[in-house]
Amino acid sequence: MTKKLTIALDGPAASGKSTTAKLLAKKLDYIYIDTGAMYRAVALVVLESGMDLTDSAQSVKIAEQSEITLKLIEGNQHTFLNGEDVSDKIRTPQIDVAVSQIASNAHIRKIMVKLQQAMASEGGVVMDGRDIGTVILPDADLKVFMQASIEARAKRRLKDQANHNLTLEEIRKDIERRDHADMSRKESPLKQAADALLLDNSNMTIDQQVEKIIGWTKQL
Ligand code: DC
Repeated sequence: MTKKLTIALDGPAASGKSTTAKLLAKKLDYIYIDTGAMYRAVALVVLESGMDLTDSAQSVKIAEQSEITLKLIEGNQHTFLNGEDVSDKIRTPQIDVAVSQIASNAHIRKIMVKLQQAMASEGGVVMDGRDIGTVILPDADLKVFMQASIEARAKRRLKDQANHNLTLEEIRKDIERRDHADMSRKESPLKQAADALLLDNSNMTIDQQVEKIIGWTKQL
């Protein structure tokens, strides 16, 4: 395969998108772009500035003034906010809650769409998020919509979480809340693009998922 593809990976929270996307990008020698991290960085800067998250105009202003960049360091994507590596700071339960408000803001989404489309313009990318196949890369070479049962997703998050000590039930409730927020928002709600291939990975290993997607790329 000589042509560098654009691969869009969408799906709900904890559906395994980022782990799969990361490994897929590594195997194909592509760039991995985690768009959720960008919304998380905006939520962080708004929270740190002491602004009310529901103050849409102020949040947009702060987002416009912030520089959000993604860099690959030793094979892992790091998220930088105004020059600071905030990769760990954006993975807390507080940000999990705050980010839904940010992601439903139409103006902030507009800023993100521009940045994300520019990042993918050269091809050779695996981009994961909620609106990649529908809004960011409507002409992606391959679109995959990842799904998994709520039980499987909650168990995965429980295993992943670093030091936050949430129970399985708390994690499950948070995932359900985020699913609802992502799917019911007016702006770019989470949905499967008409031409996306569905990958239900409730009973699949990461390697099986990656192999499945690589198989699809070979059929293009
Ligand atoms: O994938 P994640 O959990 O890190 O995403 C964080 C939040 O950002 C989540 O609430 C959904 C939102 N998001 C979005 O609306 N659009 C994207 N392309 C990526 C994430």
